[in-house]
Amino acid sequence: MEREKITLTGVPETLLSTLYARAVDSRSRHSLLHDRTALDTVRRVDYDFRRTGMTSVNAAGVALRARCLDDWTAEFLARHPRATVLHLACGLDTRAHRVARFPETRWIDVDLPEVVALRNRLLPPADGDHRTLATSVTADGWLEELPADRPVVAVLEGLVPYLRQEDGERLIRRITAHFPGGQLLFDCLNGLGVRAQRLIPLFRRTGATLHWGIDDPRALERLHPGLTCLDVIRGCDLPGVRRIPPLSRAEARLTSLVPGLRDVFRLVRFEFPAGEGR
Ligand SMILES: C[S@@+](CC[C@H](N)C(=O)[O-])C[C@H]1O[C@@H](n2cnc3c(N)ncnc32)[C@H](O)[C@@H]1O
Repeated sequence: MEREKITLTGVPETLLSTLYARAVDSRSRHSLLHDRTALDTVRRVDYDFRRTGMTSVNAAGVALRARCLDDWTAEFLARHPRATVLHLACGLDTRAHRVARFPETRWIDVDLPEVVALRNRLLPPADGDHRTLATSVTADGWLEELPADRPVVAVLEGLVPYLRQEDGERLIRRITAHFPGGQLLFDCLNGLGVRAQRLIPLFRRTGATLHWGIDDPRALERLHPGLTCLDVIRGCDLPGVRRIPPLSRAEARLTSLVPGLRDVFRLVRFEFPAGEGR
């Protein structure tokens, strides 16, 4: 089998780390995601996955976060089957394959052009109303051109800390202004997590830089009238944490005991109402 040589660097290269984590999870008897496509994709690329520094202990954490975002997405779709799913910074993630969609659900996977090109070569297309869009999420125009006829669930996994605060806040403002209501689901690091980034081998090796640390996710409610924070869940308290392998569970437990560390990584869910005139 001819393997796809990976030439990504910087932030796009970090998608190999989360892909690998899902592959490791899928091989575990404690698997949360059962993402066989991730395992197949890992086998089809020519890349030294040791660069990711990913171990089975932290792979379980990535799987937990993905599982929670999958479940929140599915919950939203169960209430709004015709919704648009805006999956930003999709990387090589197959959320569209994992989450139960409805025939009328519209799914849009978005990432940078070099990532979307790789994705199109490596991943099978998802069925139903599914498309990929090659753009930087911070570029002008692309979002405003999307149909705004349905509520949206925007899923941003592994993206927000890489954005500059002004770009991230502008993105949230654009999504909430454009769509007739919906939810925003994302993971974030606090300021300490961003300041400590050079301790993490992945960032040293790829050269990716984290910019935006969010100490108080609820403060983002000011970005749009009616934007409401429904959930802030610490990484160490995510649903499913009792099902991960014992060593990963022990790490989560230790993190939860250290005040400075327990808020480093969190998942958040926001809801926003339809704007005036909708
Ligand atoms: C850690 S990876 C996460 C990928 C995927 N969400 C996952 O969990 O496997 C970070 C992703 O953010 C994407 N990304 C970073 N900045 C971006 C931007 N400005 N516009 C679109 N995608 C971006 C990268 O290309 C990469 O795919």
